[in-house]
Amino acid sequence: MPGENPFAHARTRVIAVASGKGGVGKSSVTTNLAVTLARMGKDVCAIDADVWGFSMPRMLGVENGPDLDEHNQMIPPSAHGVRLLSMGFFVPEDQAVIWRGPMLHKALEQFLTDVAWGEPDYLIIDMPPGTGDVSLSMSQFLPRAEVIIVTTPQPAAQAVAQRAAAMAEKVELDVVGVVENMSWFRGDDGVSYEIFGSGGGQKLADQIGVPLLGRIPLVPALREGGDDGHPIVITDPEGEAAVQFSNIAEQIEAIAPRRIYRSELKLM
Ligand SMILES: Nc1ncnc2c1ncn2[C@@H]1O[C@H](COP(=O)(O)OP(=O)(O)OP(=O)(O)O)[C@@H](O)[C@H]1O
Ligand SMILES: [Mg+2]
Repeated sequence: MPGENPFAHARTRVIAVASGKGGVGKSSVTTNLAVTLARMGKDVCAIDADVWGFSMPRMLGVENGPDLDEHNQMIPPSAHGVRLLSMGFFVPEDQAVIWRGPMLHKALEQFLTDVAWGEPDYLIIDMPPGTGDVSLSMSQFLPRAEVIIVTTPQPAAQAVAQRAAAMAEKVELDVVGVVENMSWFRGDDGVSYEIFGSGGGQKLADQIGVPLLGRIPLVPALREGGDDGHPIVITDPEGEAAVQFSNIAEQIEAIAPRRIYRSELKLM
């Protein structure tokens, strides 16, 4: 129904993908994870809440913005089985926007309420790096959201990623796991090189007390696929990166039974 926040009480699992700093591969992980869950037969939606980056339309290969249905609700476009709504649909790519907290709050609210989402299995959210505003709004609109933190392997990065965990804790969202990205590069010689060091993901996971859900290798095709809308889990489904994403998706699925949703317990 228009105006209602369907995710406040729906059975949909909301997964927010966060990081302490930019450029660690948060959008790439969000995109490939969403597509992997869709390939497993799940009904998957995604919101690109990164107002500074909004890279998901390009990564997922979505070219058009949303349509409107007869109730004036937005129908999100979809690609590779994932329905997506992005700030990028409403702001020209070459225009720098300065979003203040209240604007972000309003935009996120509209993304949740003015969109004909139905009741998907998953809503995956690409969070902007290192800001409190969106996290705070998220926790108000989506109090059951689970947070996954993306980090890189160098031990120093884990200190920065810890901030994202602290933020989640402050707004009382559950961190459910860590994903380490750019963990190794496999050369033509078949040898894997740990270019950015090692151990950062595990260290962070231990510190927060959650599992390290997976380690994603540095794969040139992953970047290329992100640039032209062909996610690597589609173009190379048997490859090392795709196998890791499947593994992560299965672990996320396995967490589900812990959480019991009661539709009669409406929070909003
Ligand atoms: N595992 C990987 N292998 C190869 N390239 C990668 C990998 N992960 C990310 N990249 C590339 O690194 C760049 C940054 O990744 P991405 O945009 O996903 O990061 P981000 O954390 O969302 O960044 P931002 O803070 O700008 O939103 C992109 O060009 C992406 O294609
Ligand atoms: Mg991003």
